[in-house]
Amino acid sequence: MQKLICKDYEEMSRTAADLVAKEVQAKPDMVLGLPTGSTPVGMYRQLISMVQNGTLDFSQVTTFNLDEYYPIDASNPQSYHYFMDENFFNHINIDRQRVHILDGRCEDVQQECAQYDARIRDFGGIDLQLLGIGGNGHIAFNEPDDFLDANTHLVSLTAQTVQDNARFFESEDQVPTQAVTLGMQGILSAKKIIILASGKNKAKAVSEVFTGKITTQNPASLLAAHRDVIFILDEAAAGL
Ligand code: GLP
Repeated sequence: MQKLICKDYEEMSRTAADLVAKEVQAKPDMVLGLPTGSTPVGMYRQLISMVQNGTLDFSQVTTFNLDEYYPIDASNPQSYHYFMDENFFNHINIDRQRVHILDGRCEDVQQECAQYDARIRDFGGIDLQLLGIGGNGHIAFNEPDDFLDANTHLVSLTAQTVQDNARFFESEDQVPTQAVTLGMQGILSAKKIIILASGKNKAKAVSEVFTGKITTQNPASLLAAHRDVIFILDEAAAGL
């Protein structure tokens, strides 16, 4: 695992965007795995500027988002569909046919999850997976547990994650308690992974990843088993 430590959130965002841009320029029809959360917003902003000033082209890029709350409507401002439109897709030249996000309103969750994995396979797998990390080490919505799921699946969120994400909702009881998410196989089979962490509330989870031990109690620690992972941290997240 490679570790890049940046001065602050801005530098972390710029560093990440520059790496993503390089990958897109090298393979304009790449398959890109995308995260939500507050961490990647700055990186998305930088990428939007590059598209708008004509130095980056997303027209051939295919995207797969990591996760979505369940149940939730795509039109709900708290949905990850809505988040992606607002923070990224509405501002870049992406072909909407190439955008994939799990359906938080699907009736048959198992079928939706199996089809999502199949669609990723049909596109030849994810070239570059971008990730954030939860305060408890979760990646996408793979929460710490004795066992982790390999494939895309429905998951119950931990109390900590519900509490952490409550800041985006009017109150904690409005946070969905379930989500659909890519599993560990889906994440680890990406050819390259870039993971961002900012702020001291991520420092403990990040430090556990660099102990050289892998534990399902910190899902991000499984990234140590992947051959091409870059952690981009600000100084606060790297603090421990
Ligand atoms: C959510 C998302 C994750 C994200 C995490 C951290 O639970 N499912 O993909 O990495 O939160 O979010 P933030 O960047 O807001 O700290």
